Amino acid sequence: MEKQVLGIVGSYRKNGIIEALVSETLAGAEASGARTKKIYLADMHIEFCRNCRRCTLEPGESPGECVQSDDFDAIMDEWSKSCALVIGAPVNFFNINAITRRFMERLVCFSYWPWGQFAPTMRLKKTSKRAVLITASAMPACMGHVFTGAPRALRLIAKTMGARPVRTLYAGMAARKEHMVPSDRLIRKAREAGRRLVAGQQ
Ligand SMILES: Cc1cc2nc3c(=O)[nH]c(=O)nc-3n(C[C@H](O)[C@H](O)[C@H](O)COP(=O)(O)O)c2cc1C
Repeated sequence: MEKQVLGIVGSYRKNGIIEALVSETLAGAEASGARTKKIYLADMHIEFCRNCRRCTLEPGESPGECVQSDDFDAIMDEWSKSCALVIGAPVNFFNINAITRRFMERLVCFSYWPWGQFAPTMRLKKTSKRAVLITASAMPACMGHVFTGAPRALRLIAKTMGARPVRTLYAGMAARKEHMVPSDRLIRKAREAGRRLVAGQQ
């Protein structure tokens, strides 16, 4: 697999704290020799999952095909070329924000779920792909880990896409001014997480 690291910015804001941390993580990956690609969900046309289940009906490891035509396939193309994922989404109302969740629901294509089967089974059993998860909130990180569903939702996204989370970066107290920048400590952690994504990958 080529060493491409895919960054997905789920924040509505470019130049917000989520974007900054995704970029720093990608910079760490680049410093370790990876190529990177950054996607802003806010710029993409992604339809809601309609629960028609067409994408879940055929068996196999490859994600099923959605009946809708939008930018989701382009993201999946980039993901198929990538060895690692960096995904960031802010906490809005105690969980990841709506565009990231809309993207998440479309990931049902990574499961096999024919009619008559009680629950979905993951198509991907084991992959070598890795992920760094990034979130931010007004509340401090220690509270966010306990009181919000964001870290869990991001873990679910990564696992569904077949990537093992290796690090979660949480920027707490991130709404004190209009333009927040990550602390030096968090930037160092993001760079290190980016390097870790690539280290040891073929
Ligand atoms: C609609 C909305 C809902 C929010 N809900 C929460 C929340 O439930 N808990 C919290 O701590 N912060 C909340 N925040 C603050 C955001 O998490 C914070 O501004 C964001 O992480 C900053 O990310 P950005 O710089 O990438 O935009 C909310 C902000 C908005 C706009």
